[in-house]
Amino acid sequence: MKVNIFKTAEEIGVAVAEIFTNEVKNNPDCVLGLATGATPIPTYQNIISTYEKGGISFKGVKTYNLDEYCNLPKSDKNSYYTFMHEQLFNSLDILEENVHFLDGNAADCDEECKRYDDEINNAGGIDIQLLGIGNNAHIGFNEPADEFTTGSFKVQLTESTINANKIYFDENPMPTHALTMGIQQIMSAKKVILIATGPKKAEAVKNMIEGPVTAQVPASILQKHDDVLIFLDEAAASLLK
Ligand code: PGA
Repeated sequence: MKVNIFKTAEEIGVAVAEIFTNEVKNNPDCVLGLATGATPIPTYQNIISTYEKGGISFKGVKTYNLDEYCNLPKSDKNSYYTFMHEQLFNSLDILEENVHFLDGNAADCDEECKRYDDEINNAGGIDIQLLGIGNNAHIGFNEPADEFTTGSFKVQLTESTINANKIYFDENPMPTHALTMGIQQIMSAKKVILIATGPKKAEAVKNMIEGPVTAQVPASILQKHDDVLIFLDEAAASLLK
């Protein structure tokens, strides 16, 4: 794990966006694994501003998002489908047929998860996977558990995750379940970039980097990946030795 500490979330956004836009320039058909939440927003804003300056196209790029809520219409303002279109895709020349999500409303979730994993594998796997981290050290929606997960699956969200995300749900209650890529799928990305900002992430960051590798701290598995860049602001890094 290579840990980079920056003063602000904005500086991290600039640095991480540069990694993604360089990848797109050097490998125009790359496959990107993308994340939602507040954390990646500065990165997405900086990707858009680089794109708007010209000289880069996303027409050949494929994306796969980490997770999606169950029982929430795709058109809901809180679906990750809507989030990604509003925060990134609508501002790029990326093709709609090249952006991929798990369908949290699928009639058969097991079949849907298998379809998604097969599609990622058929695309040649993920070149760069972007991650945030939950206050409970989840990655994607891989919550603390007894064992590390493998492929995509349906998960029951923990109280910690519901408490962190329910602020976005003013009309409808927050979904209790989601579909998420599994840990093995995340670990098979060629490169992983994890961003954590703010003091609420400090404990999870410490456990991820300095603690033992355990499924109770899902992000700790990244210690075993040989190309991981961690980007922290000073608050998220504050408990590190
Ligand atoms: P956040 O979520 O970026 O909104 O803090 C991160 C996560 O839960 O993985």
